[in-house]
Amino acid sequence: MAAAREAREHAIAPYSGFRVGAAIETADGTIVGGCNIENSTYGLTMCAERVALLKALSDGHRAFVRIVVVAETAAPTPPCGPCRQLLWEYCGDIPVVMANLNAITATLPLAELFPLPFDRRLL
Ligand code: THU
Repeated sequence: MAAAREAREHAIAPYSGFRVGAAIETADGTIVGGCNIENSTYGLTMCAERVALLKALSDGHRAFVRIVVVAETAAPTPPCGPCRQLLWEYCGDIPVVMANLNAITATLPLAELFPLPFDRRLL
């Protein structure tokens, strides 16, 4: 949670003003943070979850146990569709912890957030 809140401090969100931090924990206990990074095209924006996941993959990590997403909202901030697809591919059914600056607002298994996924089993 602390890593996600710290990552959120680096958010680049001049268009939405919606600052998000994420932290993914690997099987060996490494914690990798990420923040959202917006772009003037809007569509090239990268969510905090994907930044954290891709950073961890790029560092060589291949096994993950959970992810935390932090935004300054009373309601939980669940990962968007593309983030769910990528998290499913590389993490499987991990817990997704949603939190704000003070507390956890929800924890759900990724399989509940992303039922009936398209994945390699269907290829
Ligand atoms: N965003 C994230 O980084 N993660 C989420 O789970 C939801 C949305 C970002 C994308 C964009 O920069 C801003 O929040 C508003 O959508």
